[in-house]
Amino acid sequence: MHLPDYKEARTRDKRNYKRVDFKIDNNIINKYSGKKYFIKTYGCQMNEHDSENISAMLEKLGFNKVDNYLDADLVLLNTCSIRENAHNKAFGMLGRLKHLKLEKKDLIIGLTGCMAQESSVVEDILKDYKFVNFVIGTNNLYELPEVIDEAIASNKQQIEVYSREGDLYEGLPVVRANSYKAYVNIIYGCDKFCTYCIVPYTRGRERSRKKEDILKEVKDLVDDDYKEVILLGQNVNAYGKDLYDDYNLADLLEEIAKMNIPRIRFMTSHPWDFTDRMIEVIGKYPNIMPNIHLPVQSGSNKILKLMGRRYTKESYLELFNKMKKIIPGVTISTDIIVGFPGETEEDFQETLDLVNYCKYDNAYTFIFSKREGTPACKLPGEVNEEIKEERLHRLNEVVNEYFLEKNKKLEGKILKVLVEGKSSKDNMYYGYSETNKLINFTGNNIKLGDIVNVEIESAKTWSLDGRAI
Ligand code: 5AD
Ligand code: SF4
Repeated sequence: MHLPDYKEARTRDKRNYKRVDFKIDNNIINKYSGKKYFIKTYGCQMNEHDSENISAMLEKLGFNKVDNYLDADLVLLNTCSIRENAHNKAFGMLGRLKHLKLEKKDLIIGLTGCMAQESSVVEDILKDYKFVNFVIGTNNLYELPEVIDEAIASNKQQIEVYSREGDLYEGLPVVRANSYKAYVNIIYGCDKFCTYCIVPYTRGRERSRKKEDILKEVKDLVDDDYKEVILLGQNVNAYGKDLYDDYNLADLLEEIAKMNIPRIRFMTSHPWDFTDRMIEVIGKYPNIMPNIHLPVQSGSNKILKLMGRRYTKESYLELFNKMKKIIPGVTISTDIIVGFPGETEEDFQETLDLVNYCKYDNAYTFIFSKREGTPACKLPGEVNEEIKEERLHRLNEVVNEYFLEKNKKLEGKILKVLVEGKSSKDNMYYGYSETNKLINFTGNNIKLGDIVNVEIESAKTWSLDGRAI
């Protein structure tokens, strides 16, 4: 048994982390043929991609996927810790599973993802959720097949979570959820330690994958006719810093742009690590999509400092303006937190002022959520619940107005759209533009995975309607 430990999770010493190649014991390949699994994924794209790896590992064991947890022999929750409501959702699901297990004694229940890395969650599971068969951390996910096999063979709860450093694993099998666009991890973990954020504790230190491994994965995707790669990391702009003296995200993007892949995206970017060269490279290559997610979190310098964000409103705006100037047609989206401890009405007004200046194409807005073990938890000046709700409401009204205003400007324009699906409800196709706008459209002879020209006929707040031409 290995339990998570925040003190260890916080360490960032010079020790080299382990680089592990995935291997699976031949004796357990297809051992569970005929059994069925259900996986529920909460949270971000990193988790979605981890679930693609988890699915592949389960399928190596012989499990087949089902879409309803009631039909499964094994249920795995891939969890998220970022805000309290993600937590509550996963615990709600565990409650339902507890009932199911009363009827279905052989049901195997597992938990992974960021919540597995939280000491308080694992303590609760040891104490009150004894029906959970196994917990496996994000840093040693490659051990999943063995942990499941041991949990089943021993019939004892397995808790295998490591906090220190985190390993970097290569060669995990993958079952991709989409045949046109593919996630590719480039860096794991985060060393920024923004004071509100749990991620540096649950995902470990920044560990970049070797460029050769990334380029090989992209090459295979090109050979398989994928149309889009999405480079993933908690902070992709720190790529390479831990591995190379003179190779960073700009170099990686440039090498990938020269491969024959129509669309490249990347997320998420921390403004602090964004260099001029990165902006130039994004502006130079037409297959690097002109859409950047650039979380600002707040427009008040006082709050940014308390958040430990390492930039000011002024330096953020300088970067923002540089992107607008150098990357043709770029759209920028953001994340904003309201109700951070100490946020006054004036601080909030500064956030609204910044939003009014930036006129974001998209924004994810959140109420500050206390995460146990993070420094912001202990900050004075807690904002009362009603005020937080009211600020979120006011902020959303402003951001939504700009989404619609921006979208209205696209009416009559022709956008390139990667066709991702067809909705059965209204028989319309859907996909995303280069600038990451969701487009619903009509057309004839359209194939999924094609990139087609769509004339925009009408704009809504979160999507656009049009017709293929
Ligand atoms: N409370 C509210 N929002 C948070 N985020 C991260 N931690 C918290 C928290 N404790 C938001 C940030 C981040 C996004 C992924 O989630 O805006 O950019
Ligand atoms: Fe969290 Fe900040 Fe790291 Fe983003 S950069 S994952 S907000 S600590």
